[in-house]
Amino acid sequence: MRAHLAFLVAFAVVFVGVFSARSRQGDDVKVVYNPLYKSRFTKNPIYEPRSEGEAAIPAKSLAKSRWSLASKKVSAAQKISKPAKPQKGPNPFKASLSQFTGLPNICKDIFEVINKNLEVEGLFRISGSAATIDRLKGLYKDGRSHLTEINAELAKNTITVHDLTGLVKLFFRELAEPVTGYNNYKSLINMTNEAEDGLPTAIEVINNLSKQESVTLKNLLELSHNIAQQSKTNLMTPTNLGVVWGPNCIKSKAALSPADMMTDASKVNLAFTSLINWYPELKVSFKN
Ligand SMILES: *[C@@H]1O[C@H](CO)[C@@H](O)[C@H](O)[C@H]1NC(C)=O
Ligand SMILES: *[C@@H]1O[C@H](CO)[C@@H](O)[C@H](O)[C@H]1NC(C)=O
Repeated sequence: MRAHLAFLVAFAVVFVGVFSARSRQGDDVKVVYNPLYKSRFTKNPIYEPRSEGEAAIPAKSLAKSRWSLASKKVSAAQKISKPAKPQKGPNPFKASLSQFTGLPNICKDIFEVINKNLEVEGLFRISGSAATIDRLKGLYKDGRSHLTEINAELAKNTITVHDLTGLVKLFFRELAEPVTGYNNYKSLINMTNEAEDGLPTAIEVINNLSKQESVTLKNLLELSHNIAQQSKTNLMTPTNLGVVWGPNCIKSKAALSPADMMTDASKVNLAFTSLINWYPELKVSFKN
């Protein structure tokens, strides 16, 4: 038994020794192109003389060097393609929501920033700098996400949160069709007349939205709800937010008579205020 064990150990030691000597030797060989291995070096991992008079090259070592070269190439390629450029999208200004897939990048970026700055006073009410908003508009024209850039600018104080709220407000104002859709205007106005709860009408309106309108409005209401929950510090109550968002999001396609315009204006604001207040009940009705 013992003798067997000793023999096995001795054999292992010798084997490892020979093996490592072989690979050391292999490493010392200068690798020259070997025409015998035109295609696949890995297929035949044995020593083979190149031609008469020339030193043998360990095929294994050749294969290894080829392999490591190939894997280096792969990892270099991976490094180049790694920071995948954020996808280009439609120019978000004066756009139609139907051009997008999911929440537009400009909303994604800016909503994320605002959600981290909920304590800032006057969110969406205080206007940013017109020149900065115009510059940021140029940045976002390619439809890509610019979250990295805007976070860097915020850190350097070259832009403020109010410039970003101004920009996203501009996006909603310039949409070809408001985020609540023209066809729901009358229902939203009527919703505010209802002596009883207008919630069922609000749910009907949401069911009437296109998928793109639905996802965009849901995110806007969620953000507004988050802001309103911090109104003690940011001073933006649902009513204040309704004044900001109503005229940008609830619009009539048909020109209104001056009288209707007067009476509708406050209803538009009130309708949006109600949507913010009802967001917790409404959110299950949105298409995701
Ligand atoms: C749904 O849309 C249609 C037109 O597409 C409109 O006539 C109807 O009033 C809308 N319903 C609601 C609840 O807004
Ligand atoms: C809105 O209310 C008016 C008056 O009550 C009614 O005639 C009209 O049908 C309503 N429209 C919608 C879309 O609910």
